Amino acid sequence: MRIFSGIRPTGNIHIGNYLGAVKQWIELQKKNECVFCIVDMHAITTPYDVKEMQKNIIDAASIYLAAGVDPEKSIIFVQSGVKEHAELAWLLGTITPMGELSRMTQFKEKSKQHKDYINAGLFNYPVLMAADILLYKGEAVPVGKDQEQHVELARTIAKKFNQKFGNIFPEPETILPKSGAKIMSLTDPKKKMSKSDDAKSYISLFDTPEDITKKIMAASTDSGKDIIYNITKKPGISNLLMIYSLLTDEPTKKIEEKFKGKGYGEFKKSLAEVVINYLEPFRRKQKELQTRDVYVKELLNKGKSRAETIAKTTMQEVREKMGLG
Ligand code: TYM
Repeated sequence: MRIFSGIRPTGNIHIGNYLGAVKQWIELQKKNECVFCIVDMHAITTPYDVKEMQKNIIDAASIYLAAGVDPEKSIIFVQSGVKEHAELAWLLGTITPMGELSRMTQFKEKSKQHKDYINAGLFNYPVLMAADILLYKGEAVPVGKDQEQHVELARTIAKKFNQKFGNIFPEPETILPKSGAKIMSLTDPKKKMSKSDDAKSYISLFDTPEDITKKIMAASTDSGKDIIYNITKKPGISNLLMIYSLLTDEPTKKIEEKFKGKGYGEFKKSLAEVVINYLEPFRRKQKELQTRDVYVKELLNKGKSRAETIAKTTMQEVREKMGLG
């Protein structure tokens, strides 16, 4: 199967992004042809710091590599380097109903969050995302729950294109992780963990051990003392249990037993240790790659030319089908 997925290089990629998306990629790359993109053109649809962008791109590459994406096997590249993404997005925009785009939850949320930055790019975000996937004829898209709606729209767009111009695109399917598709905020466990919220609400993959401990110890918990997985009654502790379970591969039941009769404090201390140890390779890779930018650029350039070969072939087909050029 051809797999496509991506992350916005925003500089604060967090444990929710890892558990919802990247962790799945590593399994999938064993048996599939994978394309993993650093989607910088999506990152500019909300306010950003131009001076930070290159560092953020290298950081995103560090995350892919530290997590175990194999650049010899899978394609890793930066979206804006392959011009065909923008071209296909424009063409697909002409068959995407405005009504569908205005129904997108992410657009509604982000326009509320950035009232003075509601731009056409933000509105068209899902069209560019459909272009990303379809350019590589992606059949499956491993993402977290919040992106399911966008992948569904990509399916609708693929279907519409095929009906109107001729059958060239597979209809991509979402792959959600069995658990961890929606990691919640540490400070408000009824909301999903999000890059755009306060830094106390998420654990960045590059947080220092001190910050990780502080954030976990301060994480919102629920009334009562028992460590029990129950999302409705105990959303805070359940979220922490889920993170513990996903990072240790221990079922939540086993963790509940381990901490039976012990307080939240002890559980949180142990979780902080688990998270610190798990994220150590990420911090190490970030440090290493910051001093090896020639190596990273070379790696991303290789990825770019592999991606371009596929993208150019698809675009030729698309232009022909649409009677362009
Ligand atoms: P981004 O950078 O916002 O998110 C990257 C991935 O992290 C997942 N995610 C979560 N998973 C679990 N719990 C959370 N709290 C959580 N928050 C985020 C997201 O679902 C996503 O998989 N629009 C995409 C980037 C993109 C893309 C694509 C993805 C652009 N083009 C084509 C797939 C295919 C996004 O949300 O990025």
